[in-house]
Amino acid sequence: MTETILSQSEDRVLKITINRPDKKNALTLAMYEQMTALVEAADKDAQIRVIMITGTGDSFSSGNDLADFLSHPPTPGESPAAHFLHTISKTEKPLIAAVNGLAIGIGTTLLLHCDFVYAAASARFQLPFVNLALVPEAGCSLLLPQLAGHRKAAELLMLGEMFSAEVAHEVGLLSSVCEADALEDTALETARRLAAKPPEALRLTKALMKDRSGDVNERINKELGHFAHRLESPEAHEAMQAFMEKRLPDFSKFS
Ligand code: COA
Repeated sequence: MTETILSQSEDRVLKITINRPDKKNALTLAMYEQMTALVEAADKDAQIRVIMITGTGDSFSSGNDLADFLSHPPTPGESPAAHFLHTISKTEKPLIAAVNGLAIGIGTTLLLHCDFVYAAASARFQLPFVNLALVPEAGCSLLLPQLAGHRKAAELLMLGEMFSAEVAHEVGLLSSVCEADALEDTALETARRLAAKPPEALRLTKALMKDRSGDVNERINKELGHFAHRLESPEAHEAMQAFMEKRLPDFSKFS
């Protein structure tokens, strides 16, 4: 039987590939469970520094499998989709998406939880919840207006029409748009650069960026608390020592 979720670890980067091209990479309960397990394991694995998600064929993901929606409707509590969303929202490691084609429903909303999103110029996006008489999921009713402003988010969520990679880039959903044949290399290039950074400093940076509590003054203090500790850390010692010795820092021994 074909594996619908593929995974590969190389150069401290875990690549997760959604592989159900005959169904436009629609996500079943089992696929959410597999992706959740991979992300959770990667979070605990010191050998993995970065997680990347992409798809095969002409789609990134056409969203939740609609047949699954009817046969196993998610309940308000924990469901495999909710567990997956909480897991990617909480992962401490940098998350990169390479959007190779259609990204519909959760195929688009999961991007709001990624740190870097690259898309092929041919990629198409859609948030069709209202058209299906549903409501937004994955926290996108909060995250999309924050990112794109209420006006643009209303257009995308209330009209629910397909939009281009150019529009997705304009509203801030993408890091950049590239030619389809350069997509994977572009995403991997960023992944490798991130994998060479001091891991604890990267984890704390992501945690600070995702922490939306408090005001700016509280944040300055919170950052300074970490900053003081960081200055004492072996990672910072290596970074500064390398500068003094006019060499590149090597963070490979840290976890
Ligand atoms: N769930 C289940 N099956 C899906 C699917 C989904 N989300 N998206 C596509 N498929 C299946 C189709 O049923 C079809 O299966 P079949 O070959 O057995 O008939 C196959 O994938 C190819 O899809 P098709 O519709 O023929 O391709 P298309 O290029 O004309 O259109 C889409 C592609 C993605 C635009 C269209 O399939 C679509 O709108 N899918 C639903 C998207 C959606 O609403 N997702 C849920 C968001 S909450």
